[in-house]
Amino acid sequence: MAAAAAGPGPRRLRRAAGPGSLCHRRLCFLVLLVAESVSGVSGWVVTSLPGYDGPLPFHLETGYVEVDKDNGAELFYYFVEAESGAGEQDVPFLLWLTGGDRCSVFSGLGFEIGPIRFVLEPYDGTLPRLRYNDNSWSKVSHILFVDSPVGAGFSFSREPKGYDVGDISASLQLHDFLTKWFNDHPELLANPFYIGGDSYAGMIVPFLAQIISEGIEAGKTLPNLKGYLVGNPGTGEITDFSSRVPYAHGVGIISDQLYETILSHCQGLDYINPGNVLCAQAMNTFNNLIDEVENAHILIDKCVYASPEPNINIKTDGADSRRIIREETGTGKLNHPPAQPPFGCVTYGYYLSYFWANDRRTREALGIKKGTKDEWVRCHDKDLPYTRDLGNVIKYHRNLTSRGYRALAYSGDHDLLVPHLGTQAWVRSLNFSIVDDWRAWHLGGQSAGFTIRYSNNMTFATIKGAGHTAPEYEPERCFAMFRRWILNRPL
Ligand SMILES: *[C@@H]1O[C@H](CO)[C@@H](O)[C@H](O)[C@H]1NC(C)=O
Ligand SMILES: *[C@@H]1O[C@H](CO)[C@@H](O)[C@H](O)[C@H]1NC(C)=O
Ligand SMILES: *[C@@H]1O[C@H](CO)[C@@H](O)[C@H](O)[C@H]1NC(C)=O
Repeated sequence: MAAAAAGPGPRRLRRAAGPGSLCHRRLCFLVLLVAESVSGVSGWVVTSLPGYDGPLPFHLETGYVEVDKDNGAELFYYFVEAESGAGEQDVPFLLWLTGGDRCSVFSGLGFEIGPIRFVLEPYDGTLPRLRYNDNSWSKVSHILFVDSPVGAGFSFSREPKGYDVGDISASLQLHDFLTKWFNDHPELLANPFYIGGDSYAGMIVPFLAQIISEGIEAGKTLPNLKGYLVGNPGTGEITDFSSRVPYAHGVGIISDQLYETILSHCQGLDYINPGNVLCAQAMNTFNNLIDEVENAHILIDKCVYASPEPNINIKTDGADSRRIIREETGTGKLNHPPAQPPFGCVTYGYYLSYFWANDRRTREALGIKKGTKDEWVRCHDKDLPYTRDLGNVIKYHRNLTSRGYRALAYSGDHDLLVPHLGTQAWVRSLNFSIVDDWRAWHLGGQSAGFTIRYSNNMTFATIKGAGHTAPEYEPERCFAMFRRWILNRPL
């Protein structure tokens, strides 16, 4: 990899060099020296990003950690240093994971809790622009974003076999990742360490926390685990899905009659694959009704794609924009451009991210290894194997909270995918006593959601108005919640 004439150099020199010190307005797409270490970790400092005007106002490091030597599989990461008090040992450290199917952790970085956002403007074939996010959780915490499992985002395997992972093997690889990453960043080992994630990452977060806690007890060198947080999390409980029924009923998506029919015919059954005809019929009606709303946030418009076929036609100039993309990626192998949503639709940023992440200049700035990833996609669609082998993770929640680890389970209250009702139910089933009874929590003099705190440092909170990936919809409220919780203050 070519180094920029006077790049800031290897990671360890970062504070001496100072972020952005070598940037010249927009023309500073830096490619940096590789700090390859013996431990299987390679990291770069990124002081500017294509599309972001000027030097980045936060410290970003990207890199890879090898997690499967036999197959040549490496996980890609983005490390964002806390924007204040970075050198202090009491600054929290958050490992963030995204859900599935194999969604890139860039979803967390660029749409939920990280310091950048896309400027929402119609795509015209040029590089999408980025801006700063005022509600970045990195204002109070270091955040390590990891593209996991292998195959997500920029993580890759040289052998196809390396993509064949599941809940357990992916969690063990994350454990291996952390051991190596912290071995390379020993100065951060003592900081209070938290693991967070939403949606399907709700399966991985408590299991990973469990194996790390076991490693700590066995005396291994691991980060200083204090707790974890999960947002609209999957748990493997039947209520993850069955709670959609009372939720849809409560908000007026289904009728009293259908609700009663489902209750009487589906009791105790799997709502997704019901083994009884009456229940199956009722669930079919139910599914048709909920299909009328955006399940990730019941109040927003459903994003009906602007063109029936996935394509990248822009206005009248489709052929030309195709050419631009091909030239800029340098691979010519963009096979899955997402369908273009109408401008203004909530997924428009996802659409932009595809063109940004596949741009040659972005890849150079991030230090993406050549030939490892022809095409970046925000989420996969069952094109790579994955085994769901964790079953139900409530036992890990129970074990961790029983042993003093702090936990926050939060729910965007407008999510129909994993409704707050199901999350409330399993949190309650841990059977801890209430230490701060259900009440509103506030921001700017208004309720921002509701919360209840149980003994054993178990907190549940809703975020008013938020959907499935809550910080994407209510960034200010979610940041306030995170900030209070991570700093050990009441919500
Ligand atoms: C938690 O898990 C550990 C390790 O598997 C086990 O030794 C311990 O007994 C469990 N503790 C509780 C309270 O369940
Ligand atoms: C709750 O968390 C605090 C801060 O980490 C800790 O000091 C305390 O021991 C925890 N309480 C319980 C009951 O585990
Ligand atoms: C819940 O806790 C109460 C009192 O602490 C206890 O009597 C009850 O048996 C517990 N239930 C379960 C399911 O653990």
